[in-house]
Amino acid sequence: MAYKDVYNAWQDNPEAFWMEAAEAIDWDKAPSKALFDENAPLYEWFSDGMVNTCWNAVDRHVENGRADQVAIIYDSPITGRQSKMTYAELKDRVAKVAGALAAKGVTKGDRVIIYMPMVSEALIAMLAVTRIGAVHSVVFGGFASNELAVRIDDAKPKAIIAASCGLEPGRIVAYKPLLDGAIDLSEHKPDFTLILQREEHVAELIDGRDFDWAAAEAAAAPADCVPVEGNHPAYILYTSGTTGQPKGVIRHTGGHLVALNWTMKNLYNVDPGDVFWAASDVGWVVGHSYITYGPLVHGNTTIVFEGKPVGTPDAGTFWRVISEHNVKSFFTAPTAFRAVKREDPKGEFVKKYDLSCLKQVYLAGERADPDTIVWAQDQLNVPVIDHWWQTETGYAIAANPLGIEELPIKLGSPSVPMPGFDVQILDEGGHEMPAGELGAIAIKLPLPPGTLPTLWNAEERYKSSYLTTFPGYYETGDAGYKDEDGYVYIMARTDDVINVAGHRLSTGAMEEVLASHPDVAECAVIGVTDQLKGQLPLGMVCLNAGADRDNADVTAECVKLVREKIGPVAAFKLCIVVDRLPKTRSGKILRATMVSIADGKAFKMPATIDDPAILDEIKDALAEIGYS
Ligand code: COA
Ligand code: AMP
Repeated sequence: MAYKDVYNAWQDNPEAFWMEAAEAIDWDKAPSKALFDENAPLYEWFSDGMVNTCWNAVDRHVENGRADQVAIIYDSPITGRQSKMTYAELKDRVAKVAGALAAKGVTKGDRVIIYMPMVSEALIAMLAVTRIGAVHSVVFGGFASNELAVRIDDAKPKAIIAASCGLEPGRIVAYKPLLDGAIDLSEHKPDFTLILQREEHVAELIDGRDFDWAAAEAAAAPADCVPVEGNHPAYILYTSGTTGQPKGVIRHTGGHLVALNWTMKNLYNVDPGDVFWAASDVGWVVGHSYITYGPLVHGNTTIVFEGKPVGTPDAGTFWRVISEHNVKSFFTAPTAFRAVKREDPKGEFVKKYDLSCLKQVYLAGERADPDTIVWAQDQLNVPVIDHWWQTETGYAIAANPLGIEELPIKLGSPSVPMPGFDVQILDEGGHEMPAGELGAIAIKLPLPPGTLPTLWNAEERYKSSYLTTFPGYYETGDAGYKDEDGYVYIMARTDDVINVAGHRLSTGAMEEVLASHPDVAECAVIGVTDQLKGQLPLGMVCLNAGADRDNADVTAECVKLVREKIGPVAAFKLCIVVDRLPKTRSGKILRATMVSIADGKAFKMPATIDDPAILDEIKDALAEIGYS
């Protein structure tokens, strides 16, 4: 079948399409139907089925002849260690960790926060939580105590699972002080924590609250899978919005399993048994969907890579891992390829490895610039597929579905909408725009299975953030256009979200931190173009009248404050003091205009600007640090 036939089959009868896809999942009780639209515009899928995530990702493969197949390969160029775990071994470990959690009182529906680096135990923790019907919320290790505390207060976890440390090149990140700091800051306190001690840095445990993972696992009785309703949350994953309060994206169990499983063959073109590698982190949605759940539910071998594209030890790391572990499909972020390309433009490292196992490469998380795609195609001689998705959707909205049909690649476009997604380009009034014209990208409701049904504890915010601007549609927050062939082009965000090295960050959240500095009267954070990371945050602060401070001291304090409050992942290193910020007459800060100035792009003087002279001041201030 061709892509068009599959897409049309979905559009003609979505119910039949998804019920058929659901047959690939082991249900304890089959769902009576796919779509539950009784509460439209809130939609659910497979709500009356009974199912368990961990069963589908682990146990069923052990029962069905994959017991001795490797499920997880751990490869850490930072420590020099590697290990392999079969599905049978994975089942035993997950069942015991689940048993340890259950013995300490964690039951169906309880939340468990996971704050871990890229080790196999991070996946074991996720699977153990879903095994007993609890709900995990993984927090990325690069976030600081304050961000963790905000998530603790929102998710109200019964337990937190963490490691003693993470490993960054040249630096051990002690997690336990960050975790202790977060628990001190948060109003809600977990009953207990489970700490995986790593030999690089052993954490001190607080008696009665912190428990050693290894001891707890060894002592536990294995727990069985607990079937849950199709609309039971499998996890909550927080993502950046416009404010410092992150959005808790919920993933329902049934749709998650059905949709991810469908993508493994149709989009990523792997069969059960093949090795699939997503070089991301379990703290992001890519890690949830394509390090843990997608590959395991589909019976693939997945790779947990604790390293960076460059410097661990060199720009050949990706190629070594692919060649050594026989990777068939590889998924990374454009920024990672840019980092490799910068160090090895001619691909000298590529030539050192036999990459004949590699059949296709996938890029997502940010706009894939044509130069990077062409470089990767030239080096690797396989299709390099850009695909577009969001934490909210959990898998690709638009892609080139290689497992169905390889469509022509158009540079700059993540290709075409996937079945389930009716993507439309709308003008401000909600009317569809003609081909080639820029507008807001929206998706006609309902969104397909596996996408967010609502936000954790924030239904009104879900509606106002996504469903209100264009009634009957989900607003993606991205702007772009479609061409005559229906290819989608993603050009910009319509909100205050920026994308730094494939990481989604809120400039609003950074502004809240800067505003808390005692000498800062007002501030703005913008995303400026960066050759490597796509965008970088740049802060501009105006000081309080009478603040008799050295500008350099204040900006250094601001940089430190953002690192402490949000975390190193914010990569907030550019900060300047300015006398005034450009505003409209109604007082709105003209951030987009400042972005154009910083990027050296032509811009139209905003008609509503209060005082055009301020733009010259901003230009001079930016020029001093090499921007504009
Ligand atoms: N725990 C603690 N700190 C972390 C961390 C973690 N899990 N991940 C990143 N950090 C820190 C880094 O050490 C760095 O700290 P520094 O300011 O002291 O140097 C900071 O956060 C920024 O990290 P990063 O964005 O990774 O930048 P980098 O300069 O270390 O590396 C790249 C640049 C391009 C190699 C890197 O960003 C990269 O590999 N990006 C790929 C992103 C990706 O796969 N995203 C997944 C989305 S699909
Ligand atoms: P996240 O929720 O972190 O996955 O970030 C989602 C956002 O990243 C999207 O809304 C886009 O702005 C951007 N994004 C992700 N993939 C792509 C892509 N292939 N092309 C352009 N932008 C992308």
